[in-house]
Amino acid sequence: MKAIQIQQFGSAEQLKLTELPKPELKPGEVLVRNRAAGINPIDWKTCSGGGAAPFIGDLPFIPGWEFAGTVEAVADDVTEFSAGDEVFGFINFPHRAGCFAEYVAAPVSQISHRPQELPVTEASGLGLAGLTAWQALFSKGQLKPDQQLLVLAGAGGVGHLAVQLGKWIGARVIATASAQNHDFVKSLGADIVVDYQQDSIARHVNNVDLVLDGVGGTTGIDALKCVKPRGTLITLPTVTKDEVIAAGEKLKVNVQPIRVEPNSRQLDQLAGLYADKKLRLSIAGTYPLEQVAQAFESSQTGRTKGKLVLTID
Ligand SMILES: NC(=O)c1ccc[n+]([C@@H]2O[C@H](COP(=O)([O-])OP(=O)(O)OC[C@H]3O[C@@H](n4cnc5c(N)ncnc54)[C@H](OP(=O)(O)O)[C@@H]3O)[C@@H](O)[C@H]2O)c1
Repeated sequence: MKAIQIQQFGSAEQLKLTELPKPELKPGEVLVRNRAAGINPIDWKTCSGGGAAPFIGDLPFIPGWEFAGTVEAVADDVTEFSAGDEVFGFINFPHRAGCFAEYVAAPVSQISHRPQELPVTEASGLGLAGLTAWQALFSKGQLKPDQQLLVLAGAGGVGHLAVQLGKWIGARVIATASAQNHDFVKSLGADIVVDYQQDSIARHVNNVDLVLDGVGGTTGIDALKCVKPRGTLITLPTVTKDEVIAAGEKLKVNVQPIRVEPNSRQLDQLAGLYADKKLRLSIAGTYPLEQVAQAFESSQTGRTKGKLVLTID
């Protein structure tokens, strides 16, 4: 099979298209003929030696944690899926998953059936960002109807799904985005969009119950002033979590870091919302597998509107 592999951590030049044997199935796994794989900032962070690199073990390494494709074979003990099933998933994180490849061995406990209404490209980008938004808003953040949610980076991969999930649960949603993305974020249902490039968010927003901080650092710290007493800020970027937590302690805001976890039940719920037209995934761009370096460069600009996807057909 064709796969993208790195032999050492470093720049995008380390990403090499390689011919490798198909992965071997372990109990509880299915072999998927992969058709698309979502790109996330964690991919280039990890390939450069940061992000999830400490969990990867010995190189070489095939990056990628999310995919959509067709089941080709199942391990002897698997009953939930059979050959020919259309599936998608976010798997093995933060350990190696190998989704930038034509074939993926995926644990059945971390994948979901792909409904017809959810196209393969969109499905491949839904897992990581969708589960992050779900777990931040509902599992950790306990967001309730009529509460106020602030989403920092409302146009990004996680943010554009979080805005929609916040509206779906019945919250009032405020989001930050640059001016060029205001119409996009409003079209997702946001009640108010604030241009973070013009002014401090704290001058416009107060008394929010929950912040989803997709930016971190000084931006996350500034947003602490928007939170009501005993409110919560969930900060996504791991590298700045300690400074945001420390600033939260001073202001008595409950700051929680997060590490997204695979979860097939939550994937089912996301797919169901998609099929019911209550959730959409915006594709910022698609790249063939061999152009993964260009996809990384695009993600590294920090300007992704929705999700980037590698196509593998
Ligand atoms: N801990 C976890 O489990 C976990 C899970 C998922 C993601 N993450 C992390 O969370 C962060 C966001 O992930 P993502 O996939 O959503 O990233 P992304 O898609 O690359 O985010 C890009 C978006 O960020 C916006 N942006 C950039 N700077 C901003 C600022 N100062 N204020 C507001 N918006 C800003 C841009 O909007 P404009 O063009 O409008 O500026 C762009 O739409 C990344 O650092 C990622 O590694 C962590």
